[in-house]
Amino acid sequence: MTDGLEGVVAAETVLSEVDGAAGVLIVRGRSLDELAGIARYEDVVALLFGGFYPDLPADIPVALGRARAEVFAEVQALDTGLMDRTPIEAMRALTARLADGDNAQVAFRLLAAPAVFTAAVVRAKAGHAPVAPDPTLTHAADILRMLRGQPATKVEADALDTYLVTVADHGLNASTFAARVVASTHAGLTSAVLAGISALKGPLHGGAPGPIIEMLDEIGDPANARAWIERALARGDRLMGFGHRVYKVRDPRADALKSAVRWLDARQGRLEFAEAVEAAALAILRAHKPTRSLQTNVEFYTALLLEALAFPPSAFTCVFAMGRVAGWLAHAREQTTGGRLIRPASVYVGPMPQKAA
Ligand code: CMC
Repeated sequence: MTDGLEGVVAAETVLSEVDGAAGVLIVRGRSLDELAGIARYEDVVALLFGGFYPDLPADIPVALGRARAEVFAEVQALDTGLMDRTPIEAMRALTARLADGDNAQVAFRLLAAPAVFTAAVVRAKAGHAPVAPDPTLTHAADILRMLRGQPATKVEADALDTYLVTVADHGLNASTFAARVVASTHAGLTSAVLAGISALKGPLHGGAPGPIIEMLDEIGDPANARAWIERALARGDRLMGFGHRVYKVRDPRADALKSAVRWLDARQGRLEFAEAVEAAALAILRAHKPTRSLQTNVEFYTALLLEALAFPPSAFTCVFAMGRVAGWLAHAREQTTGGRLIRPASVYVGPMPQKAA
């Protein structure tokens, strides 16, 4: 039996390929280098959805803008009970209000949902009224506007686009697998996306970047990095933002995001500090686990980028969902259109019934 299904092939996909030995991510024939920093999120949605939705709208930016406006109506269900929840729990609850279905209209509402609901939840928690979507903007520019109540600069929107494109799909990661399992039962796209959000929420998957900000804030100065990291490892903690099931070299997404942080001029001091902490962490991890190759993963520079864009750390996982939802929706359709019910086997190691004497 393979612990954690490591190395087990559970699906055939045309959507993305993660080469963990070479540190390469391919999305439908394009390398991450070709996409990050160049493509808009809407372009990657077109790339991922092509061929999977027979009713795919011709104008993806227009359809996504319209979907943002449609789902905004659900924000009125954000009551005090939900506002006491974490942003991802509140966003997931609002997403669960959307009807299930298996067509492009349902898919576009689900693409819009994490963006519109997270912005409203973050604002409500800060005591501000929600800002309605502007369907004429790009998805990234509108997310920042809905979040802060004022237009984003082009550089900021480009940086968020880079993030959304970079995380849109990534092979059979835990949340995508969860979405495919649910899709394989033909439960519908909303159910599949809710499974994806739920799996993403965990700190071993999409929940890492919030704690990275806590780590950087507690370290405070590069001179404290070594002692802080050694104490954390001695307690048996894992360093968030390091290690990966598939990548045994540096995660290519880390550098795509680090470049985007560089565009945001005001962040240079924070970036240099983070680089110093990263260097200390890599050196200590090498000494701590000499037989493992624990490298920087996507979450380390995600944390810096989303902080620079003024997302609160408590909502970082929701922003991951804003990007990854495109991958979940493409994988869900790939599963329902070409795959069987996912139903693996287990090995029973419990007691057997007693035989009557
Ligand atoms: N800090 C300290 N030790 C670590 C870390 C870490 N970040 N990651 C792995 N290890 C150790 C682990 O303790 C284990 O040691 P041992 O062999 O002595 O038991 C060994 O390295 C291998 O760990 P593993 O649990 O077999 O690795 P995995 O493939 O199951 O886990 C991981 C991958 C990402 C869950 C893990 O590296 C981790 O917990 N990292 C921190 C959380 C994090 O950054 N998550 C975001 C992942 S990237 C986003 C995404 O694509 O999902």
